[in-house]
Amino acid sequence: MRKKLLAANWKMNLVPTEARALIAGLRAEIDRDSAALAGDREVMIAPPSIMIPAVAQALAGSSIMLGAQNMHFDDKGAFTGEISPPMLKSYGVTHVILGHSEHRHVFGESDELINKKVLAALKHRIIPILCVGETHEEHDAGRALEVVLRQLERGLEGVSHEAIGGMMLAYEPVWAIGSGRTATPAQAESIHGALRGVILERYDRQRADLVRILYGGSVTADNVDSLISKPDIDGALVGGASLKADSFARIVKARTH
Ligand code: PGA
Repeated sequence: MRKKLLAANWKMNLVPTEARALIAGLRAEIDRDSAALAGDREVMIAPPSIMIPAVAQALAGSSIMLGAQNMHFDDKGAFTGEISPPMLKSYGVTHVILGHSEHRHVFGESDELINKKVLAALKHRIIPILCVGETHEEHDAGRALEVVLRQLERGLEGVSHEAIGGMMLAYEPVWAIGSGRTATPAQAESIHGALRGVILERYDRQRADLVRILYGGSVTADNVDSLISKPDIDGALVGGASLKADSFARIVKARTH
């Protein structure tokens, strides 16, 4: 059985004092239930990279895992402003969000660049969470499936049979991100099923059963249960609703069936 992952994507929010307070509040809510929760789910927080050291400290002794929101594909070099996989590893980062729509559409990241990052993360044994998702226009034009399948195919270029089991996917329809307009569980489930179908075709049944596919886009404490109780929705990538301890704690405790 695939464990559900409830992942917080803080985006460019909070300063360290706020981050520490948020984590303290979250731990007060979930640490006592952690044994019960550990059986079927994992929790991860991806803070802005400058706060990774502070958040790593605040998470000491907790089962909550640490993620990054992006990274460069090279180990080191003349890349002003960038963060490398070894830097992330040295702070205990286990997951990295790659190809988030804000990077694709605001900063113009290409499928080719995102693919290089996926391969680099796998090489360094950081779990890449490869995000795919169609824009509002693409959605309205009925092109959602075509767009996400293309992003997936290109993002997986060169990913071996051995490596695919070590990665995750996230379906994040751009029209649902930060908009309050969530995909319906049925809409998301159908895209997730198609994404899993690509893993089955390119790899095999065992890998298709292994790879976790998260949903992201206006997930809240109110809609998380209906989304992650779908068989192909293996968790949630949560932006806005992860910035408050009580709402993210509720999301972490979501009903999974
Ligand atoms: P949202 O963001 O939950 O605020 O819609 C999700 C994401 O972009 O990962």
